Amino acid sequence: MNYKIIIETERLLFRQHIADDLDAYCAMEMDPEVRKYVGGTPRTREEAEQRFKTALEPVPGNLAIWATVFKSEDTYVGRCGTYPHFKSDGGVFENEAALGLYIASPYWGRGFATETGQAFIRFGFDELKIKRIVTAIDTRNDVSVHVVKKLGFDLVFTEKGDQRSFYHFELKNPSVTQMTDR
Ligand SMILES: CC(C)(COP(=O)(O)OP(=O)(O)OC[C@H]1O[C@@H](n2cnc3c(N)ncnc32)[C@H](O)[C@@H]1OP(=O)(O)O)[C@@H](O)C(=O)NCCC(=O)NCCS
Repeated sequence: MNYKIIIETERLLFRQHIADDLDAYCAMEMDPEVRKYVGGTPRTREEAEQRFKTALEPVPGNLAIWATVFKSEDTYVGRCGTYPHFKSDGGVFENEAALGLYIASPYWGRGFATETGQAFIRFGFDELKIKRIVTAIDTRNDVSVHVVKKLGFDLVFTEKGDQRSFYHFELKNPSVTQMTDR
């Protein structure tokens, strides 16, 4: 099948979503463990299928959440990547990106998120010349917090909400930090 591969690591490749990803995509959206700190409740199959249509839309540029494939098994194991860092008014912060890591629960604990994060940091900083990568994490999501700290992210501030609170992390591109006052 002809599709765009964005980057590859030793064990994983990241590509556009394709129609064959539907069942694996929906399984993640319907998994209470995956949804625990991202959205809270699992989606129904119908809701997941609806969202999948968006995942299939062509991506302009290189910032998106990509299908994540475990190469040795040719299996869809998640969706990950760096996507545009949106402002509250819908605009985007130029030269910035947000990191998203979603691994299917049967594949947790194998270092996939760490390997993915390292690859997208390299890609974002070295090839896309992004100045800053951000990520917001539910304060209860200990595994995700552990992973982004291991990737070198710094805590910028904590956003406290009635239902949920979020840590806001950032990682600045060391080769352009002199240009970055944010
Ligand atoms: C968070 C997530 C991406 C991690 O994926 P993963 O592939 O299992 O992560 P890795 O295997 O690379 O790393 C997991 C790390 O967490 C550590 N860990 C495991 N349980 C932990 C816990 N309760 N508290 C802190 N750290 C923990 C592991 O030891 C490992 O660290 P190490 O490599 O230093 O030993 C995955 O759990 C996931 O997709 N969760 C659901 C979606 C989600 O919450 N995404 C994050 C949105 S911000």
